[in-house]
Amino acid sequence: MSINVLNSSKNDVTDAESLRQLEFIELAKQKVSALEKELGRKPKACVVTFGCQMNARDSEKLLAILKLAGYEETDSEDSDFVIYNTCTVRDNADQRVFGRLGQCSNHKKSNPHMKIAICGCMMQEQEAVEKIQKSYRFVDLIFGTHNIYKFAELLNTCLESDRMIIDIWKETDKIVEDLPVFRKYPFKSGVNIMFGCNNFCTYCIVPYVRGRERSRAPKDIIRECEKLAADGVKEVMLLGQNVNSYGLDFKDDDPGKISFAHLLELVCEIEGIERVRFMTPHPKDFSDELLDVIAKNRKIARHIHLPLQSGNTEILRRMNRKYTKDDYLSLVQKIRTKLPDVAITTDIIVGFPGETKEAVDDTIDVVKKAHFNNAFTFIYSKRTGTPAASFEDQVPEELVKENFDRLLKVVQEEAKEQTLKYDGQIQRVLIESVNDHDESLLTGRMSNNTLVHFPGNKEMIGEFADVKLLECHGFYYVGELI
Ligand code: SAH
Ligand code: SF4
Ligand code: F3S
Repeated sequence: MSINVLNSSKNDVTDAESLRQLEFIELAKQKVSALEKELGRKPKACVVTFGCQMNARDSEKLLAILKLAGYEETDSEDSDFVIYNTCTVRDNADQRVFGRLGQCSNHKKSNPHMKIAICGCMMQEQEAVEKIQKSYRFVDLIFGTHNIYKFAELLNTCLESDRMIIDIWKETDKIVEDLPVFRKYPFKSGVNIMFGCNNFCTYCIVPYVRGRERSRAPKDIIRECEKLAADGVKEVMLLGQNVNSYGLDFKDDDPGKISFAHLLELVCEIEGIERVRFMTPHPKDFSDELLDVIAKNRKIARHIHLPLQSGNTEILRRMNRKYTKDDYLSLVQKIRTKLPDVAITTDIIVGFPGETKEAVDDTIDVVKKAHFNNAFTFIYSKRTGTPAASFEDQVPEELVKENFDRLLKVVQEEAKEQTLKYDGQIQRVLIESVNDHDESLLTGRMSNNTLVHFPGNKEMIGEFADVKLLECHGFYYVGELI
């Protein structure tokens, strides 16, 4: 590992901030301890997460601070502190939050010292904050994505005040390192490598609520992965909205300016880390260097999530995706040639303004030719403030529904056919949990991200094991330990 790379001076200025936040945890602890005496039991806290892996990772930070302050973790919103970490990528995510908030107010009626907080992407939208101020007066604390590192401080203020506290920042260039984290899984972890997005796809709210791209210094990422490995983590997932543009925001003379492919290699060198995933690469920036690094490193999972969004070149242009149908198919072809055992999954939006039946035919054509192992299909949701929201040719609901169903059918057929290809194979899986529906079964994840359920003992959770794939059930397998 090159020492130079790990020498970047980026972010050192924020060390003082993380120490400051640790002091606020101490102050909050005194208040939670007083509350414990008053209640005659340990106060409970619940973190409710919506949205993507990046939000899930943020929630692990929120939970760590709540636990350090003295709260006991609970899944029930009928608790002493509830925080909603919101997503606003589609309108239904917003609606779900308001529904849950409404229910939460009933808990507060029977437990008046309860505190309700709300943070995350939705809070970066002024209208959402105004709506809460007006119609959800019982909320105690509102903050956004840019100042989440201040949660200890905000928690402390919230515990000593009866007023609604609102702290939203429009932007930040800060990345505060070394805040506490409480992992959901002891054996696997997400690792943020960058925050924000500069791509401005015309349908997407993320660049507005998460701000411009900011990459973490390689030394901080490597140090975090080393610490995780020492703590028993075997699988890491490197997270960013467009991981391929990792490091592009560094100055040219910064020794820490390295490509995403190089960063992946460095992470693969860490002893104890046995599997490395990443999410999400953008097709327009997928380099040959990255393909070569994946081909060389067996630690890198045989799975590439490559969002397509649409298979129609004109729609792609209007989405500002910066690739054509043919570009995408050539990239898939290149991946298949260099990495024949890789599973490719994707995201697709149906109903983008101006999308005709013929445009959806193009998308279906790509699904058939790319042989996706799985695809997440979303109905287009108009996001206020994005360019596409003011496009005139919004698609009638009826046509969207028809196109969505047509596409979904092909996606499911293709996924089944691709998954079936592994039938009878022996695959190495990371055992993640007891099966949700049958306690005698364990659930493991293959390198290609497919799940397999098999009989086993829950002591094996967190271990790698070889499993024979016996029965294919569409997206997943039932198998047996070897
Ligand atoms: N940065 C990633 C993921 C962004 S959000 C990427 O570029 O792919 C995850 C997915 O949500 C996107 O891939 C897209 O398919 C979907 N999405 C984003 N905005 C949407 C909108 N306005 N309506 C419907 N789906 C949307
Ligand atoms: Fe949204 Fe596009 Fe950025 Fe992904 S790349 S987060 S879809 S703007
Ligand atoms: Fe949603 Fe924010 Fe992620 S809008 S998808 S939680 S970055």
